[in-house]
Amino acid sequence: MKLYRKAHIRSVGRFLPEKVLTNKDLEKIVNTTDEWIVTRTGIRERRILEPGVGNSYMATRAAIECLDRAGVAPEAIDAIIVATVTPDMFFPSTACLVQRDIGAKKAWGFDLSAGCSGFVFALATAAQFIESGRYERVLAIGSDVMSSIIDYTDRNTCVLFGDAAGAALVEPCPEEGYGILDFILHCDGSGEPYLHMKAGGSRKPPSIETVQKREHYVYQEGRAVFKVAVTEMAAVTEAIIKKNGLRGDDIAFLLPHQANLRIIQACAERAGIPMDKVVINIDRYANTTAATIPLCLYDILYDTKRINKGDYIVMSAFGAGFTWGSILIKWWE
Ligand code: UT7
Repeated sequence: MKLYRKAHIRSVGRFLPEKVLTNKDLEKIVNTTDEWIVTRTGIRERRILEPGVGNSYMATRAAIECLDRAGVAPEAIDAIIVATVTPDMFFPSTACLVQRDIGAKKAWGFDLSAGCSGFVFALATAAQFIESGRYERVLAIGSDVMSSIIDYTDRNTCVLFGDAAGAALVEPCPEEGYGILDFILHCDGSGEPYLHMKAGGSRKPPSIETVQKREHYVYQEGRAVFKVAVTEMAAVTEAIIKKNGLRGDDIAFLLPHQANLRIIQACAERAGIPMDKVVINIDRYANTTAATIPLCLYDILYDTKRINKGDYIVMSAFGAGFTWGSILIKWWE
């Protein structure tokens, strides 16, 4: 009997919409400046999905690239988890649409709602299906069309978000001591008042009034969220490093959720990880909610090719709920 069974990420895929919305473009839409956005957030531009196609369009393309890179047929996939707060529709789930569109004939799947922590929650879940021995191949996808729930008359939120998808193929790790070693996940629903969508759900279904009051968009009290995000993302990052007998110095890459460059810097500093080990894409893509972390991984795996076998990687996220968590990986390749 094989005693060691950890999961690992075999390949990653992404989808970035072609349309670029720059800070200068936003200056023409709301009362903002490139200077304010760059200094307060680190964002320079973001991608926007063309109208008329939904989340599953992006998630499907990310999944196809991920499978192509591994040379794995869609028929070999056992399960698909899509982390998102912007599904094509309430039901069926985006995972079902991806299953159909990639031709994953034997797979089942579901959507997972954890805001900006979505990918971390999805990857931890996928890893459990692999570790249990039940499945051999699970797709964990983070995909959000934030432009579909953003009020482009509200300067507090419209400058912050972008659209993108990232997919990871999770399989059993072939070598002992490597793979997804640990995770720590949290949620605290007392965060609801500070980051939510006011209407459209069962408590307040859509009506002419909810549309007129612009309640179908992201509502965020930025300063309140900022404080908790800095504290908790730093704490959970430190916690997973310590729990596994490591120090900040041992970490090759921190892949943090990209909500604000200032949150990322504070988190890295508290965890003792120098900024040259922190992967940043917020300047190019803004906050893509569930997609930020797989996009970071794609960067070091394929764009800059910086990952080596044995590298310790920490993924850390914080988002609506509140939700937050970290994953520790020892990279195998
Ligand atoms: O990803 C999920 C979790 N989300 C987060 O982690 C986001 C956490 N929050 C943040 O990243 C920051 O709080 C924001 C980027 C959202 C805002 O930055 P801030 O430094 O906290 O600004 P603020 O909300 O305290 O606003 C400061 C000022 C205000 O003006 P007054 O009241 O001081 O006159 C805002 O009205 O900046 C103003 N402001 C803007 N000015 C120009 C807000 N948005 C803009 C804007 N352009 N786009």
